[in-house]
Amino acid sequence: DLNAANSAPARHMTTAVCSQMADDNTEKQASAEEDRSEKTVSSPGDTENQVLSKRQRKKLMKQQKWEEEREQRKQRRKERKQQRRLQRQSHQEGGEVQSARKRARREATPSSLRLVVDCSFDSLMLIKDVHKLHKQIQRCYAENRRASHPVQFYLTSLGGQLRQSMDEKDKGWVNWKDIHIQTEHYTEVVSQEELVYLTSDSPNVLTELDPRKAYVIGGLVDHNHHKGVTFERAKELGISHAQLPLSSFVKMNSRKVLAVNHVFEIILAYLEKGSWQEAFFTVLPQRKGVVAVGWDATNPPKKDDETDSDSDSDPEATAQTEGRA
Ligand SMILES: C[S@@+](CC[C@H](N)C(=O)[O-])C[C@H]1O[C@@H](n2cnc3c(N)ncnc32)[C@H](O)[C@@H]1O
Repeated sequence: DLNAANSAPARHMTTAVCSQMADDNTEKQASAEEDRSEKTVSSPGDTENQVLSKRQRKKLMKQQKWEEEREQRKQRRKERKQQRRLQRQSHQEGGEVQSARKRARREATPSSLRLVVDCSFDSLMLIKDVHKLHKQIQRCYAENRRASHPVQFYLTSLGGQLRQSMDEKDKGWVNWKDIHIQTEHYTEVVSQEELVYLTSDSPNVLTELDPRKAYVIGGLVDHNHHKGVTFERAKELGISHAQLPLSSFVKMNSRKVLAVNHVFEIILAYLEKGSWQEAFFTVLPQRKGVVAVGWDATNPPKKDDETDSDSDSDPEATAQTEGRA
């Protein structure tokens, strides 16, 4: 009823309601303000700010790290430079050494003398001695390659344990140069009258070397267990034999049975120097008490004092001679 609504009590009520509504509105406005101010923290724009500042923080930290590591980087650069310089140097030096070796080979005058290492005693050796023989043969090969008068190097009767050791421990042997490696026995390779077996048990003493001959060294590391075996073999086959003239030139405090590489190197040294005595002094280890015949054993020549010719050799290569001292 409209009239009733416009009556005084009704008007009063309306005013009261309105004022109540106004109050309500003020409260709502305030809380909306509050809401808005709260929302500014979590509004999408602010979230972006937070992500950005995270990025910035990261960037800043990265920059700081970069600054801190500046010294380290400098140091690393220095080291790399130094390394490159060293590499260049060693390359150059290596090249020089190599070309010096090549030069030495080119300047070498090969001898026609044949030196045979007879590997037919394989079954007489234990595997540890086969390994020692292998090393002695490697040494012979290396010495012949750098010799001023390299010999015609033969390895005969190669097979069995020695061949296995070579295949397992030094596959590169198949590329060895200036060497005749044969499975055949030396009597099938060289005619009998050209052969001279070198053996310490022979009564014949070598005075000089004949470049037309083939000298045979027994490929054996036996610690004297097979005494005289090569001498007996040479006699059986009717082959000439001889011992090195050790007693004529040097006195030794050990037996005169030498290791394969020592005999090989003495021949090379004799071809170079033309003197047995010099060859013995150059090759034989000082500990064998080598002194020249006619010298006081307590006062050996200066050269021998200074040169332990064995000092750079493979220690195992000399084990054979050590066992006999
Ligand atoms: C370790 S020896 C072997 C010893 C072995 N019992 C033998 O009957 O020949 C290795 C080889 O070097 C040679 N050899 C060692 N001493 C020698 C010497 N004084 N004169 C000549 N040849 C020698 C021999 O050919 C010998 O077979």
